[in-house]
Amino acid sequence: DKGGYRHFMLKEIFEQPAVVKNTLQGRLGSDHILEQSFGNGASDILDKVQSVQIVACGTSYHAGMVAKYWIEGIAGIPCRVEVASEFRYRKFVVSPGTLLVTISQSGETADTLAALRLAKELDYCATLTVCNVAQSSLVRESDLALMTEAGPEIGVASTKAFTTQLTALLILTVALGRRYAIDKVKEAAIVSALHSLPGTLATALELDDEICGIAETFADKHHALFLGRGIQWPIAMEGALKLKEISYIHAESYPAGELKHGPLALVDDDMPVVAVAPNDELLEKLKSNLEEVQARGGQLYVFADKQAGFKNESGLTVIPVPHSEEIVAPILYTLPLQLLSYHVAVFKGTDVDQPRNLAKSVTVE
Ligand code: M6R
Repeated sequence: DKGGYRHFMLKEIFEQPAVVKNTLQGRLGSDHILEQSFGNGASDILDKVQSVQIVACGTSYHAGMVAKYWIEGIAGIPCRVEVASEFRYRKFVVSPGTLLVTISQSGETADTLAALRLAKELDYCATLTVCNVAQSSLVRESDLALMTEAGPEIGVASTKAFTTQLTALLILTVALGRRYAIDKVKEAAIVSALHSLPGTLATALELDDEICGIAETFADKHHALFLGRGIQWPIAMEGALKLKEISYIHAESYPAGELKHGPLALVDDDMPVVAVAPNDELLEKLKSNLEEVQARGGQLYVFADKQAGFKNESGLTVIPVPHSEEIVAPILYTLPLQLLSYHVAVFKGTDVDQPRNLAKSVTVE
């Protein structure tokens, strides 16, 4: 049932405030997280963790990339991330006290499951899955499960699964980090940002009409570039994946500082360049990267914090995103990028919910 929406994808995009709220349910106190909710013996297992290895595919891998910025940058714990299809076929070194974290909507992705089974033969201290399906193989076979409460996701292009994964991974960051770099004050600040997250996401969805208005200009394009810096780089990667998946437009993402090292050569007036620009410490650096794009005639679309000081001008369209706590900005900026790819696909007339050549769950290699 599409609940009155034209596509499942749009319905699932609009469900995000509610499903993120469901994912927070039972996991937050007023100023602290409730780590017992991860499963039996969670605290004893978390006590042993000295580093984290994340393994996942596709959109779930992008969630893992965001988590790396949180786990290293906020919790102060070493974290590595790898796509499952690479991880399972290479030799690697497991350092003592490493927690293996899988991330998966379905819990049945063949490569991710194979990576978990491989890890169980090795010296990981424990395994944890961030997963959306309670009866899945990943949940059954992992020591701990941090369930996302996204409900069934029908659209092949993952939307609400991703934002609930990020929500769960931020909770995991706090659980790990309270044993390292996160003190009570910091924990309370993150918990407060999480409490207000559903409301913040709802305000981002109000951008729908505005984004629909710019989507038409993408429909006849063959290529697009997505730029971000720091923790927003994986969000740009996810934005590019959404666009290629459902609109079949070739989209690439780069950390904006890499532009000069090659991709700038692609930029001309037929190349839309999408940038994610929250008001963070990398904003000024990002702005100078974007000036380079403008100087080459690139058409810029900047999703920017209202306080970031961008103004519409020729070649530069600003989509103002509501201000949020910096820590939850990656979750917030995901929504307008999902809406952009959705509306571009609708303009192009592609099969939004069932893109060609793709399956919802990749249970074979
Ligand atoms: O079920 P999983 O999260 O393990 O699936 C992983 C990928 O196959 C999945 O995220 C895929 O990339 C989506 N179609 C992206 O929208």
